[in-house]
Amino acid sequence: MAAEAVIVTEGLTKVYNGQVAVDHLTFSVYEGEIFGFLGPNGAGKTTTLLMLLGLTEPTSGKATVVGIDPTREPVKVKRVVGYLPEHVGFYRDLNARQMLRYIAELNAIPAAEAEARIARALDIVGLAQEADKKIDAYSRGMRQRLGIAELLVKEPKVAFLDEPTIGLDPDATNRMVELIQQLSQERQMTILLSSHQLYQVQRICHRIGIMIRGRMVAQGPMERLAAEKFGIEGEQHTLEEIYMKYFQEA
Ligand SMILES: Nc1ncnc2c1ncn2[C@@H]1O[C@H](COP(=O)(O)OP(=O)(O)O)[C@@H](O)[C@H]1O
Ligand SMILES: [Mg+2]
Repeated sequence: MAAEAVIVTEGLTKVYNGQVAVDHLTFSVYEGEIFGFLGPNGAGKTTTLLMLLGLTEPTSGKATVVGIDPTREPVKVKRVVGYLPEHVGFYRDLNARQMLRYIAELNAIPAAEAEARIARALDIVGLAQEADKKIDAYSRGMRQRLGIAELLVKEPKVAFLDEPTIGLDPDATNRMVELIQQLSQERQMTILLSSHQLYQVQRICHRIGIMIRGRMVAQGPMERLAAEKFGIEGEQHTLEEIYMKYFQEA
């Protein structure tokens, strides 16, 4: 794996009305990597993503995404990052194809190229048959897949996915996880994936960071975190076991 850091934070901190949401967060995500950002509800995952996107200002500390400081250049950072928010908000009156055309326009992709990307994206996410249906009539799983289609049209180098499988049934979850893996393997996208669902993260992430009450209490490949906590080389532990151990000690 290439060693170039795509996302870098140093002491990144956010305080909301005297309450620390993100506490001196320091971590890096490298090119082509899927980094699993784990933690219970309220741990500060979404707040971190919002700071990295320039959607909220850090109280202190710094961050760069592809070399861009999101606080100083919030517009530029949004241009290079694909973002799948926890609650995907679409213009529900549009159909999927219209929505993707709109995304292509926003990103100044020439029309012919846009049509080719849209057709390919709809195909990959399995929405080609439903592309002319209004988004309003889509299930949550379909909307999440449309969110991935947006990334395939925009083709960003970096994607932030906030709880992409929440509220999906097991089948839709599997599809989503496979699509995320494809973004990484076939597009070499660098992916920061926030989740509190451990099993799927375990399947696809190269490294994980465990966030508890705003602090990242551990980061690294799963095997290393397992070895640190359990001290037994070669023994298999599920992410759930590792996570619970960190959680109990935090
Ligand atoms: N806009 C806001 N104003 C005040 N407090 C907030 C705001 N957004 C988040 N918080 C608080 O910050 C903490 C972290 O929240 P969040 O980043 O959403 O966590 P996560 O995404 O890990 O569930 C929580 O205690 C939450 O209540
Ligand atoms: Mg969140």
